[in-house]
Amino acid sequence: MASDLPSDRFRIKTLSCQDMLETLRRDAREGLVQAPRSLPPKYFYDETGSRLFNEICKTRDYYVTRTERELLEQHADEIIAMTRPRTCVELGAGTSVKTEILLSRLTALRDTATYVTIDVCEEVLLESARRLLRDFPGLAIESLAGEYLAGIDALREPEKPVLYIFLGSSLGNFSEPDSIELLSRVVRRMAPGDSFLLGLDRVKDKDVLERAYNDEQGVTAQFNLNVLNVLNAQLGADFRLQAFSHRAVYREAMEQIEMHLVARISQVIALPGIDEMIRLHAGEHILTEISRKYTRSSIQRLLSRSGLCEQAHFEPENGYFSLVLAKPVH
Ligand code: TRP
Repeated sequence: MASDLPSDRFRIKTLSCQDMLETLRRDAREGLVQAPRSLPPKYFYDETGSRLFNEICKTRDYYVTRTERELLEQHADEIIAMTRPRTCVELGAGTSVKTEILLSRLTALRDTATYVTIDVCEEVLLESARRLLRDFPGLAIESLAGEYLAGIDALREPEKPVLYIFLGSSLGNFSEPDSIELLSRVVRRMAPGDSFLLGLDRVKDKDVLERAYNDEQGVTAQFNLNVLNVLNAQLGADFRLQAFSHRAVYREAMEQIEMHLVARISQVIALPGIDEMIRLHAGEHILTEISRKYTRSSIQRLLSRSGLCEQAHFEPENGYFSLVLAKPVH
């Protein structure tokens, strides 16, 4: 609960609509009853899913988090000097562990700053707010528990300049049109002097990519399967996790990882409140996530289609990841 947090420096707003369950039921019906089957990735992040995701970030095979953190450590001073924000707004803030690197440089520059965190997992928002308020006495935090778009729409007039932050290549979990739509929504809120920091994973060797989404310890498999627990808990469905296996493939032509849950056996699943049954043959799959990978030129295209232009581009020597600082064209 938020009651132990200082109310002069912390506020949290839950953006969940009352019809959240209805939306989940509709997404499940539309996504699962007929092939091609899929589920929106936001349902991964219940409390267990968010914790499993943090475990993924620590695995050896998932180079993304580690690489991005190193880039932030190397370039935080430059990023803060270029952007000098009074407010940071982060989409999908999660535990904020990487963003802390920026916050520590920022609070060295300014006595006070505001950090707005948007994330679907309220428990994680509260937990990280508790830690950050303790570690950064000059920081005020406003948390918005809900989806990215709802969070962007709920932003009050932030004190300028604003640095918008979207890390972990989470943009890649959207199709190209949806990611342009999301970025454009942020750009419409941006004023001259505001900036956007984006972390994007790059196209690379297929083996390296597939290992990152199928780690040796099996944490990603647990994370992927956990979405079925979410459906069981929320909708009273009767998915049996042992009846599915995790699969991640890199589609070179599409430049994207696709995560699937594959039915190990033929099965029929009932969803309470939905008339149709989900009938799966052995080997049939549900697409649970895409993770698009970028090249320097596809990043340029994405930015220009979203009304952004690049101010700085940081990458490691192996070109595994891009940290891009951009500003609005308007
Ligand atoms: N944004 C992360 C990515 O695309 C999310 C992610 C990492 C993920 N591993 C995953 C999502 C496994 C689903 C399953 O890299």
